[in-house]
Formats: sequence, C-alpha cells, structure tokens
Amino acid sequence: MKMIFLGAPGAGKGTQAEIVSEKYEIPAISTGAIIREAIKNQTEMGKAAKQFTEKGALVPDDVVIGIIKERLAQDDCREGFILDGFPRTVPQAQALEDMGVSIDLVVNIHVPDEKIVERMSGRRVCPKCGTSYHTAYNPSADGKTCDKCGEELAIRKDDAPEVVLQRLVTYHELTQPLEDFYAKLGKLVTVVGQEEVADTTALTLKVIDDKKQGR
Ligand code: AP5
Repeated sequence: MKMIFLGAPGAGKGTQAEIVSEKYEIPAISTGAIIREAIKNQTEMGKAAKQFTEKGALVPDDVVIGIIKERLAQDDCREGFILDGFPRTVPQAQALEDMGVSIDLVVNIHVPDEKIVERMSGRRVCPKCGTSYHTAYNPSADGKTCDKCGEELAIRKDDAPEVVLQRLVTYHELTQPLEDFYAKLGKLVTVVGQEEVADTTALTLKVIDDKKQGR
C-alpha cells in the first residue's frame, strides 16, 4: 500500500510511520530525516537546506521533489511505502501526481496546536538511528539513551519553542491545504491523535485495514 502520513509538526507522523513500516514491512520515507542527515554530513544540499529548517521554513519544492523522485525509484518501494512529511505543499502533491505515483491512502493525524507545543518540548531523538522519544509520553528505557542503538539522545535544533511556533504557521499556511487536495481525490482519512501512542496506532491501523478491505 502506498500511503502519505499528513499532519502538523509533532503530530506523531514519524512515530506512527515507524510502527506501521515495521508491521507491513514497507519503508517509511521521511524527507525531514533525509534533510537532517544531509545537514549532518554537510553535503551541498544539506548546507542549502539548513537555513530553511533552522527558521522553521520549508526547503524549496524542487529540492524535496528531487529527493523523493530518487528515493521512490529504489527497489524497496515497489511493494509500497509511507511518505512522512512529503508532500507538504500543493506543488509537491501535484509533482507526485505528475510522477504517476498512485497513492492509496492519506492518513491525516490531527492534534491541536497547544498539544503540539507541549509534545515538541519533550521530544528527544536518537542522532544515530533517528528514533523519536518523549520524556513523558514515550520515554526510552533509561530516559537518556536510545533503546535501539544505545546512542545518547538529543534535542532537535528546530524544536526550540520559537521555531516550533514558526513551523506551525508554515504548516497552516502551506501544508493544511493538502487536506482539501486529497479529500477531493477521495483519499483522505483523518485520525485524531490520542494521548497514548498505542491508541493512535490502533486508530491508524484500523483505517489502513479498512482501506485494504475496501471499506
Ligand atoms: P520533519 O522532520 O518532517 O518535521 P515535522 O513535519 O515538523 O514533523 P516532526 O518530525 O517534527 O513531527 P512528527 O509528526 O513526525 O512527530 P513525532 O512522531 O516525532 O521536517 C523537518 C524540517 O525539514 C521541516 O520543518 C522543513 O524545513 C524540512 N522539510 C521536511 N520535509 C519537507 C518537505 N516535504 N518540503 C519542504 N521542507 C521539508 O512526535 C513528536 C513528539 O510527540 C515525539 O516526542 C513523540 O514521542 C511524541 N508523541 C508522538 N505521538 C504521541 C502521542 N500519541 N501521545 C503523546 N506523545 C506522542
């Protein structure tokens, strides 16, 4: 199944994408993670992208469209995939259509802005494997290191409160119009993000199952 996980920054797209990816054995593709890796490795793209991510702005469409074209051409995407954080603008969604990629389902994870700010302040990430935790809602076993690879957890630079607020403004202005875009195509299903990660997972798996069963 070819899916998009849509939602505000911190809505839980990455957390759910990782769980669903493991369950269905399809790759979860996060443009944010690809961009962060490029910034860390100081590639040309990373250097150009840094100025946008640090301000809470979007990286230009042509850059992310290029990233996705290259990634979706890889063999592991043949049986399906989850796009986490792409598309994020109407031109990006249009580019996906123009590539002939037929999306089966768009899961829109809805969480109110106030909750987002609280979640982002507690987020901790593994700089090595990218796994995301939360100090209160989804802590690692010892609260300090990654359960998967043992690396010390870190705070993302763009989780600073003033950057989070700007990311929310960007989201409402440029990304939220995608709800209409995919609703008109009959592909959008909204899941209300729950207090517990497992509860959001249960709702997400249900909409995926409904889609698979043609309900
Ligand atoms: P990206 O990395 O995609 O950031 P984002 O969309 O802002 O999303 P996040 O990763 O912050 O949040 P999430 O929804 O995955 O939430 P998570 O699961 O971690 O992009 C970063 C930047 O890259 C962008 O700002 C932009 O500059 C650039 N970029 C990326 N894609 C682009 C594109 N297509 N076009 C242009 N630019 C692009 O959860 C958040 C926290 O909440 C965690 O701590 C988690 O443990 C916790 N949590 C999750 N679920 C729950 C729950 N149910 N209850 C309680 N806590 C929960």
